[in-house]
Amino acid sequence: MIKMKKFSYMLAPIEDMTSNSFRTICYKYGADITFTELVSVQGLAKKNKNTWSRLDFHDDTPTIIQLLGAKEAYFKKFLRVFKPSAGFKGFNLNLGCPDPEIIKAGQGCAMIRRISKTRKIVDIFKDYKYNISIKMRLGLNQHDKEKKIYLHILDAVDADFFVVHARYGTQGYNESADFSVYDECVKMGKNIIANGDIKTKEQIDFLRDNGVKGVMIGRAAVLDPSIFNTLKGIYSRKDKILSEYLDLTERFNEPLRYRKNITKWMGKDSFLI
Ligand SMILES: Cc1cc2nc3c(=O)[nH]c(=O)nc-3n(C[C@H](O)[C@H](O)[C@H](O)COP(=O)(O)O)c2cc1C
Repeated sequence: MIKMKKFSYMLAPIEDMTSNSFRTICYKYGADITFTELVSVQGLAKKNKNTWSRLDFHDDTPTIIQLLGAKEAYFKKFLRVFKPSAGFKGFNLNLGCPDPEIIKAGQGCAMIRRISKTRKIVDIFKDYKYNISIKMRLGLNQHDKEKKIYLHILDAVDADFFVVHARYGTQGYNESADFSVYDECVKMGKNIIANGDIKTKEQIDFLRDNGVKGVMIGRAAVLDPSIFNTLKGIYSRKDKILSEYLDLTERFNEPLRYRKNITKWMGKDSFLI
């Protein structure tokens, strides 16, 4: 486990949105570290070109690559050929994706129950000396949360840090994230990053007082990428952010879906799902 000295502000992985250009903009406006959208390790192991394109870095924005998968063989096959680019800061394992197809395949949120499997996968990254973190929900369903299954993973797995999205798998965004879980998560002695509905300084003060080592912000950063600076008490002009972002999507020659999804929400008051 690494020692996290500074309270960190992280940009969340958001599929079809957090491309390199968006990560660069959030970094410029105060995010300390950013994450790729989820990348299927099966696609990487099978040399799928579209999957590999998610790992193209065009600058040195600090970025963690988020991987989704459950088969050790695919992780090993991918790591044998992976070469880090500038900006690469490690890997993150997705234990939170609530998509029913992903859960049926025993991946994403289903992995919260697969503790020894998760530990084996984390160890593969450690063998290569890569930084490895986990992003998780509180369980697959309310029953898992009541059984506090999330504490079992925190106890049994030794990752650099754990991003805890304070909802369980079957919970939608209409229900609030439950910040009351962080106290007991922190007591497990691991580096905990809080995630879910975070957008105000008051929330951050509360979470910091609970001992979390940082916060991860997703939808609020899509609405306003300068939220990181704002939460750090740094003023930034907002009028150029959209054009800076659009310039980067062209410079990096990114697929149109990214700019379509980001421009739909940037500058709006709320992100509706
Ligand atoms: C459209 C959409 C796509 C997402 N894609 C991913 C993903 O690829 N990987 C992941 O771990 N979480 C993903 N998430 C979850 C976010 O990373 C984050 O945990 C969640 O939105 C709660 O944080 P927020 O309230 O700050 O947005 C996604 C969320 C949304 C709304």
